[in-house]
Amino acid sequence: MQTVNTVVQLRAAIKKWRLAGESVAFVPTMGNLHAGHLKLVEAAKNYADRVVVSIFVNPTQFGVTEDFGSYPRTEAADQEKLASVNTDLVFLPSLEDMYAPGARTTVVVDGLSTVYCGASRPGHFVGVATVVCKLFNMVQPDVAVFGAKDFQQLIIIRTMVMDLNIPVDIIGVETAREESGLAMSSRNSYLSEPERVTAAKVYQVLCRARTSVLAGNQSLKEIEIDSMFFLHKSGFHPEYFNICRSSDLKKADADDRELVILTAAKLGKTRLIDNIQFTR
Ligand code: PAF
Repeated sequence: MQTVNTVVQLRAAIKKWRLAGESVAFVPTMGNLHAGHLKLVEAAKNYADRVVVSIFVNPTQFGVTEDFGSYPRTEAADQEKLASVNTDLVFLPSLEDMYAPGARTTVVVDGLSTVYCGASRPGHFVGVATVVCKLFNMVQPDVAVFGAKDFQQLIIIRTMVMDLNIPVDIIGVETAREESGLAMSSRNSYLSEPERVTAAKVYQVLCRARTSVLAGNQSLKEIEIDSMFFLHKSGFHPEYFNICRSSDLKKADADDRELVILTAAKLGKTRLIDNIQFTR
């Protein structure tokens, strides 16, 4: 496995593969890798000859009061994990390499960036779309792989590549879960042991809400309110719990069939997000 730190080195390595006629899959990450990330790398291998993984804790997607400073940086362990699943190349750019001084161009995916997580994290998805667009320009992959746990992020990236004609196929990979149902996340390392037990209730309430939607004897609004109440009573500070159309994240109505339930809730100092996608 090769590790490079600059865009020049990255492009030189990828050029060699391209000259040999090889295709490239890309998995962008912020490091602190867990089994869910390794599943993305495994999935990426099914789509291309070579797999590139980036590790970059992107400051522009964190709010001023958020955890950019304390976000776990575990690069040595991350590289060992990536080598164990036969990643071809790890791109570990510096802040200066990613953002030239005075850079003023950003990518805004209008409408989708300011709802749900975008409402409670202003600017977050502008930071995400901008850094992912830049990484796509640097790597120029055929395919890029993202976890479905960040469902809103996945829809924003899909919309961005369509709107900007970026020639990359976006693959969403099913959320990796602990045995308890808790969605794997780098931020789970902030949870205490008792909190980890409680955190599993997020997936439980999503499953319960899906059952209620499928049973069809409660309005979607009632299911959302009940679920918010359940989270609150279980010790969370729920931010939102919404039943949406999976194609564009608009609030679902009675005729919509392809659905996703999106939720975010704080438990102590840890912000958890999760979702469940289904057809009715
Ligand atoms: O999902 C993440 O880890 C990040 O938002 C991403 C896509 C790597 C951009 O920084």
